[in-house]
Amino acid sequence: MVDNKLISGKGLERIESPRYIIFGPGALRETPDVLANLDMVGKAIVVSGPTETKSIAEELISILEGEVAVNHIIASEGSIKDVLSVVNEAYSNEVNFLIGVGGGKPLDVTKLAAAKLGVRYVTVPTSASHDGIASPAVNFSLSREAEAKLGEGIRGVEAPTAVIADTNIINRSPKITFKSGFGDLVAKITAVRDWELAHKLKDEPYSEYAASMSLLSAKIATDHASEIRSGLEESTRILVKALIGSGVAISIAGSSRPASGSEHMFSHALDMVASKEGIKSAPHGIQCALGTIMMAYLQGQDWKWIKEKLREAGVPTTAEEAGIRPDLIVKALTIAHKIRNRYTILGESGLTERAAEKLARATGVI
Ligand SMILES: NC(=O)c1ccc[n+]([C@@H]2O[C@H](COP(=O)([O-])OP(=O)(O)OC[C@H]3O[C@@H](n4cnc5c(N)ncnc54)[C@H](OP(=O)(O)O)[C@@H]3O)[C@@H](O)[C@H]2O)c1
Ligand SMILES: [Zn+2]
Repeated sequence: MVDNKLISGKGLERIESPRYIIFGPGALRETPDVLANLDMVGKAIVVSGPTETKSIAEELISILEGEVAVNHIIASEGSIKDVLSVVNEAYSNEVNFLIGVGGGKPLDVTKLAAAKLGVRYVTVPTSASHDGIASPAVNFSLSREAEAKLGEGIRGVEAPTAVIADTNIINRSPKITFKSGFGDLVAKITAVRDWELAHKLKDEPYSEYAASMSLLSAKIATDHASEIRSGLEESTRILVKALIGSGVAISIAGSSRPASGSEHMFSHALDMVASKEGIKSAPHGIQCALGTIMMAYLQGQDWKWIKEKLREAGVPTTAEEAGIRPDLIVKALTIAHKIRNRYTILGESGLTERAAEKLARATGVI
């Protein structure tokens, strides 16, 4: 995420969170009313992904016809290039606000472009794959790149002004996206333990409230693990609510600390090593799930119970099931501690290759 320097500590605290969260079947049709209530008028850019979410964005644009003037930009890679396309289009058309429609990638592009432009934005999540739906957080590598290429103005990413989560649309998303969202929620168990550790060992500011809220999101998901697997309508609701809750915990902390620890650093490291080899990464939450099993082992938490809950939800618990090469798992474990300046169970020097392989084998990940 782009840390917004609001972490609770001594002195003033500021919490930003969405003003409206509209949630349920047919929520998309409420968009014109939501925008009008928020005085979001004039010109907008709708940002979507390139395939399925493109047609969902088109459906939204037809709903907005006559209410808001809309340009549609396809964020085909979820990259900095996409952020720049949105920013340039907004500059040339004097755009008033943005609407991100899609999974994690188009929403991250929307957040960064809105931060650069200094405009408000709305998220329309089309899947339950990640906890960025309602939060001011952005993929760590992308936010780093944005800081480098778009300048300091990019630092203050805010939470969306509104979230419009249409469960009819989310229900149609591929099953793997639900599993990914479940994995991203289970990750809170190790993320919060890492945060406690950094608080105790490095005197890092800590919010008990944000930590409890994050753990509650993980608990809600694990309490309903078998329903997630079956893909029932009710399970979509549970998952989306828990993901929104995790995003709100991030807003309360003013940092992604309650949601992202060593298991996320492992996932980012895996992205890096896969990209160097020209291999496509596994979904974010699936990688985090594998990381959570292994980091829980290192933390002395009940990793077997975590693995069991992931299995119950149908989430891959081995590299083979996730389609990840075992040597990449080991490599990622050895570099994960260097991903960001965030103290975790990996410590300052991380794992040796031998220790990394032992860990992956002991937990059955490889
Ligand atoms: N901001 C944060 O805090 C945060 C948290 C976690 C993850 N992330 C980031 O989010 C990204 C991963 O998110 P993601 O897994 O959702 O990736 P994604 O690439 O946005 O979406 C994955 C796939 O799902 C498709 N899809 C989405 N909704 C659909 C629907 N209703 N029906 C059918 N297909 C649908 C997408 O279609 P399209 O091809 O049309 O896009 C895409 O092909 C990563 O970059 C990760 O780092 C950010
Ligand atoms: Zn995550």
